[in-house]
Amino acid sequence: MIVQREGLPVRKRLIISLCVFFVSLTIHAEPNARLGKSIYKKANCVGCHKWHGGGGGSYGGLALSLRTTPLSREALILVVRCGRPGTNMPYHMRQAYKGANRECYGSNSASLGDATPPRARYFLRDRDIVAVVDYVRNNIQGRGAPNYGDCVAFWGEEATRCKRMAQSK
Ligand code: HEC
Repeated sequence: MIVQREGLPVRKRLIISLCVFFVSLTIHAEPNARLGKSIYKKANCVGCHKWHGGGGGSYGGLALSLRTTPLSREALILVVRCGRPGTNMPYHMRQAYKGANRECYGSNSASLGDATPPRARYFLRDRDIVAVVDYVRNNIQGRGAPNYGDCVAFWGEEATRCKRMAQSK
């Protein structure tokens, strides 16, 4: 007897692969969001751009707003990796501008001289840079003025500053 081994019907296969896709999305999205937020704190984006990303004056000079930045994902990744020459936005890629390395804007510290951006306090791996950029994109960029919900998402409900925010509403 010949048993014909047909594959699953196309529709079933499609449904199964969609399920696998969504399950893997939720498995991966959560830890990555948490990683992005912890890097935003640890790499001290928060020190210059503030918790809400609105930026403003700080010891690092005038940090631009990450809420209103028009930059694409690729451009955001570039700025975090390479910093911005001539400003206080630091570079986070360990090898940037070192020796003959010209991965950043085709430049190294020899060619940029004083315009070489400062190095970050903590260097980041590429996947951490992507995680923090996606955190910015999903929680900060294009979000309008920071509100109570944003505050609680960042600091938690018990935070005094969020309570104050709720009162002043
Ligand atoms: C020492 C202070 C400092 C730290 C730390 C810092 N930044 Fe910045 N950042 C700046 C300044 C200053 C600028 C403005 C540069 C300019 O004038 O073009 C800037 C600009 C940027 C821009 C460009 C925005 C635009 O619209 O052009 C992005 C994106 C950015 N920072 C993201 C980050 C992220 C993410 C982190 C953490 C990994 C971080 N920055 C850490 C000071 C800082």
